[in-house]
Amino acid sequence: MKKILVTGGLGFIGSHTVVELQNEGFDVVVIDDLSNAEAGVVDGIAAITGKKPEFEKIDLRDKAAVQQFFKKYPDVSGVIHFAASKAVGESVENPLLYYENNIGSLVYLLQELNKKPEAQFIFSSSCTVYGQAEKMPISEDTPVQPAMSPYGNTKQVGEEIIQDVAKATSINAILLRYFNPVGAHESANIGELPLGVPQNLVPFITQTAIGMREQLSVFGDDYNTPDGTCIRDYIHVVDLAKAHVTALQRLINKANAEKVEVFNLGTGKGSSVLEVIHAFEKATGQKLNYKIVPKRPGDVTEAYADTTKANNVLGWKAELSLEDALASAWKWEQKVRGKE
Ligand code: WQD
Repeated sequence: MKKILVTGGLGFIGSHTVVELQNEGFDVVVIDDLSNAEAGVVDGIAAITGKKPEFEKIDLRDKAAVQQFFKKYPDVSGVIHFAASKAVGESVENPLLYYENNIGSLVYLLQELNKKPEAQFIFSSSCTVYGQAEKMPISEDTPVQPAMSPYGNTKQVGEEIIQDVAKATSINAILLRYFNPVGAHESANIGELPLGVPQNLVPFITQTAIGMREQLSVFGDDYNTPDGTCIRDYIHVVDLAKAHVTALQRLINKANAEKVEVFNLGTGKGSSVLEVIHAFEKATGQKLNYKIVPKRPGDVTEAYADTTKANNVLGWKAELSLEDALASAWKWEQKVRGKE
């Protein structure tokens, strides 16, 4: 039985991926430092799959601890690496934290995988590497732009490190560039648990609807888009999780065409902020209190995926709709705030 390490496996996307890995019969061990997740998520995963993943609380910046982990779990054959700091604004104020955590942990993991005869490595990357792409939809050969934040740069540098390491070792890798992950597992046993005031749109919407936030601020309605608000590709986190299992199986089956492959993971459909708000109201029957405020610095006008390569080469396609995602996010919010 192949044992797969999921770093950041108690986080939003990580926990949903652990569920889908277990559903496919994989034996999963999780590393999480609990800086942006709760240990109880293990129970949420078990409530869905009936199986608690093994869990080790480790800070991946601790090289000795990483080495110790791989000694304890010698049968780990592949890694899905989510663990990283990911707040754009914080990365601008504290770049060294981001380079130490996001790059340091990546290097220590790859050093351990390099000791194995062959290993699979799936890397959590982001559409943020494209910046404001010239044309839509965004395909994998759309040029990568100079990063707009140290966070974004850690994704770009991370990808470059993996490219170099794969060339020189027996490691095979797939880089998954996510668009905007949203929603929660239909069981409402796991979901997004943003710490503090949410930066992302959908958790802010659900927290406003449940009464935790007074009002949603829509950052600008004078963009060059049909309704003036920014357009993004909102992908259900369960669809995104399934893509990670498909990518891992591709490497295990040695079906990859190159040592490192890149896939954009989105629905291929762009939705504006106002469209998301109206879809939420329709999906949940909740009227949302919002106001238009000035633009947020750093926001790109438009970003949605060309899904051709993911659909035709990876063999994965998003199946759930924006409404499904918003309804599941609302159900999770109600569960978390004890109002279900
Ligand atoms: C979406 C839209 C905002 C909040 C983020 C990360 C990026 C990547 C994807 C990890 C934008 C608007 C938001 C609010 C608003 N994540 N908005 N009011 O910025 O597209 O990307 O997720 O790799 O790194 O930055 O997502 O959810 O913050 O914003 O109007 O309170 O919603 O202006 O147009 P974003 P987001």
